[in-house]
Amino acid sequence: MTYDVVVIGSGPGGYVAAIRAAQLGQKTAIIERYNTLGGTCLNVGCIPSKALLDSSEHYHNAAEKFTQHGIDVKGLSVNMKQMVQRKNEVVDQTVKGLDFLMKKNKIDVFTGHGSFVSPTRIRIAKADGSTTEIEAARVIIATGSKPITPAVFQYDKKRVITSTEALQIDQVPKSMVVIGGGVIGLELGSVFARLGTKIDVVEFLDRIIPGMDTDCSKELTRSLKKLGMQFHLGHAVTGVQTKGKKVLVEVQKRDSEDKFTLEADYCLVAIGRRPYTDGLGLENAGVITDDKGRIEVDEHLQTNVKGIYAIGDVIKGAMLAHKAEEEGVFVAETIAGQKPHIDYNLIPGVVYTWPEVAGVGRTEEQLKAESIPYKTGKFPFKALGRARASMDVDGMVKVLAHATTDEILGVHMVGPRAADMIAEAVALMEFRASAEDAARMSHAHPTYTEAFREAALAATDNRAIHV
Ligand code: FAD
Ligand code: NAI
Repeated sequence: MTYDVVVIGSGPGGYVAAIRAAQLGQKTAIIERYNTLGGTCLNVGCIPSKALLDSSEHYHNAAEKFTQHGIDVKGLSVNMKQMVQRKNEVVDQTVKGLDFLMKKNKIDVFTGHGSFVSPTRIRIAKADGSTTEIEAARVIIATGSKPITPAVFQYDKKRVITSTEALQIDQVPKSMVVIGGGVIGLELGSVFARLGTKIDVVEFLDRIIPGMDTDCSKELTRSLKKLGMQFHLGHAVTGVQTKGKKVLVEVQKRDSEDKFTLEADYCLVAIGRRPYTDGLGLENAGVITDDKGRIEVDEHLQTNVKGIYAIGDVIKGAMLAHKAEEEGVFVAETIAGQKPHIDYNLIPGVVYTWPEVAGVGRTEEQLKAESIPYKTGKFPFKALGRARASMDVDGMVKVLAHATTDEILGVHMVGPRAADMIAEAVALMEFRASAEDAARMSHAHPTYTEAFREAALAATDNRAIHV
């Protein structure tokens, strides 16, 4: 069998690339080693984690906020098995939707482990031991990533777990130590904290979500502490041991000899992910990787071998589903002879805690490092009628604009529905709007989006109305 385009890996990078290639008239095949399509994101990442985040937030609101709203609930309890069951159903429906999309776009799906035999020939090894080989004029590698699990943490998938296992826990644990105060640690940590689990986060650096704006990290720390989460910042885990149904996590203060041990039901390892190229036979195609194991690509996302492209978590850049999707479209269009473009500066980052965190463009730290003159406008949610009505008063919006041109250079927010609100900032920045442009747009009242307008007003000659 010969194809114009063969995609290896069916995550948001791979399946989107396949659909776009098929839309552009290419005879396309996709190879996935698991029985369901959708990759990390749909099966064990974005979608299941958001399902549990929503369920746990409902419980938390019922337990902590309903009384103030004048709603008395008696006999409230968590049915974790049902919560996980609902999450599994959401995943099932979502991945089945992909089977439909593959059929609709006439994309051939091969289930099995794909590996290069040569730059144009791919072998697919099925679970039953049989193999098939297909020919490809162009190959798109979209094999994604796996959690980093250093040997010293003794990852056993039972008590020492990663996000994949945490999504299947069907009894509320009493305690959990989370290694890493990044996105996974905080999202999944807050799921369990809302359900009553004692959470200790050990983070090597001096702040959580280190890649995001410092003010956002401070605001989020405050909110998560209110939820009962404890943070050991500037600490490293030096060893993990399982003892029956318990884990003992040895923690050491950075640059010091001070040590202590945390005991918990689970230890969640969330210190980042590594590109996944195991058994891909890159050597048979002559494709090279960098010192971090990422497939090297040029500005067209083409590897060092002509006709072989790579996208998503397996290459450099943010490990985000929407970044992988953009790159999938980019490569499919490039192969079809078009001239697509991605502005990596305008790919938003979101943390789905509550309040949510979202940011796009440059952070204040980056502007300082690049010596770009800027002005800042901030607006706190507690000053917003909509936020008071819903009792979501934690957080703020920050607009960073160029000191002389007023162009919006970065927008960072912590607050209710920040994940959705950041889209307005992305759109404005795509069109290179000024803070005053944003400030002059009508925003429906009362909405959370008014906080963005107020922050833009604040950045425009300090003209916020409601503070
Ligand atoms: P993946 O989704 O990892 O897909 C790669 C696929 O390739 C896998 O299905 C794998 O089985 C397959 N594969 C690998 N090797 C082979 C082979 N040799 N042959 C055949 N198939 C192969 N990102 C967001 O933007 N928003 C979120 O809310 C979010 N939440 C997340 C929550 C969690 C818990 C985790 C773990 C991640 C989350 N992410 C989120 C990150 C997101 O999941 C990834 O950035 C995204 O899935 C990357 O897409 P991809 O297509 O590059 O790779
Ligand atoms: P991460 O890179 O977000 O955070 C890892 C954290 O662990 C960092 O703060 C780092 O300083 C810390 N760390 C590293 N080594 C450590 C050690 N030995 N001891 C203590 N702390 C240590 O990685 P995470 O949370 O594992 O997520 C992986 C990827 O998945 C991220 O790149 C993220 O983009 C993606 N993701 C995205 C989500 C979203 O968009 N909402 C949700 C979940 C994951």
